Amino acid sequence: MKVEFFKHGLGRDEKEKILECLDGIFLTTGSYVSEFETNFARYTGLDYAVGLTSCTAALHLSLLAMGIGSGDEVITTPMTFIATATAVIHTGAHPVFVDVEPHTGLIDPSKIEAAITPRTKAIIPVHLYGQMCDMKKIKAVADKHGLKIIEDAAHCIEGERDGIRPGQLGDSACFSFYATKNITCGEGGAVATRSEDLGRKVLMLRQHGMSSEAADRHKGNYRHWDMVECGWKYNMDNIRAALLLPQLEKIDSTWKKRADLWEKYVRVIEKIPGIRCPEIATNSKSALHLFTIWVDKDKRDHILRKLGENGVGATVNYRAIHLLSYFAQNYGFEPGAFPIAEHIGDSTISLPFYPGMSDSNLSYVADTLRKIVN
Ligand SMILES: Cc1ncc(COP(=O)(O)O)c(C=O)c1O
Repeated sequence: MKVEFFKHGLGRDEKEKILECLDGIFLTTGSYVSEFETNFARYTGLDYAVGLTSCTAALHLSLLAMGIGSGDEVITTPMTFIATATAVIHTGAHPVFVDVEPHTGLIDPSKIEAAITPRTKAIIPVHLYGQMCDMKKIKAVADKHGLKIIEDAAHCIEGERDGIRPGQLGDSACFSFYATKNITCGEGGAVATRSEDLGRKVLMLRQHGMSSEAADRHKGNYRHWDMVECGWKYNMDNIRAALLLPQLEKIDSTWKKRADLWEKYVRVIEKIPGIRCPEIATNSKSALHLFTIWVDKDKRDHILRKLGENGVGATVNYRAIHLLSYFAQNYGFEPGAFPIAEHIGDSTISLPFYPGMSDSNLSYVADTLRKIVN
């Protein structure tokens, strides 16, 4: 049997919407993007959403729109995808890492304060695997030191903790619609925020810093545009928004399918000795993006290899990023710098997990894992 790591669930609704979009004349940023932005803002409970080409772009533009750049420091976690830190580097600022909680893999709020210097401007908490960080604690530290918060919510569209959703305490939340994310258009992202000012700045920066977008110029007669900022080319197009619109309508029922699968997974995985799952905080709803297990770190690579050999599409999200060559060489990190993140990074395996995964797929993954571990 072969069980893919991920299979998208795009079907008739998405095809129809794409065809509808192709029947129009406007392929780039236009009415489909605006509609998606309105609906996405409503779903997140935030006031503004801006459609972009990726979550990396969302992180980058959030930082730029907050005026973060050369000489500044931004605190984040080494237990994340590299984009969280490279977005900081692209502004000219330095990423400063803080270790994570051993039971969740999320940035440890009690360790943030020690990493703050006069140059610190912002914190980027990462809502890893779909679970939100403890935003109340992080917000208290940020407020005490006058820091901005940019939430990396690439995994966490549907998440909630202590009654708070991504972006509701932070200054902005950054989402990903990459190929394996909870809703996807292949490549895409968004910034969502409560701040009109920030929303407007991101909107301008996503398209070269121009004072109008193609859709504005398409309306009525030609009007001259100005370049107001030195921006980027990060605007989401209508085709991708058309793919996302039907998925957003179904996002809660899709989450429920993953939740049912999750329960079944936990029941079988719990019985396999030596395997742990990251804890989900009480009073929280995980967006259930990845099904992650933590195994003995000396056996992890062997288990991964054997899963692959037996047709199970497993992967690693993530190895602690400070020890990847670029960060180690440019920032001088050595093993032991962030021991908890390193331990998790050496122990972690993401198993196949997507709404259309069948019971027999799940049993095959669990049986294969049990045999390998035994
Ligand atoms: C935690 C995290 N942050 C940021 C990103 C970047 O997202 P994108 O590929 O949409 O730029 C990812 C992508 O996997 C991610 O997992």
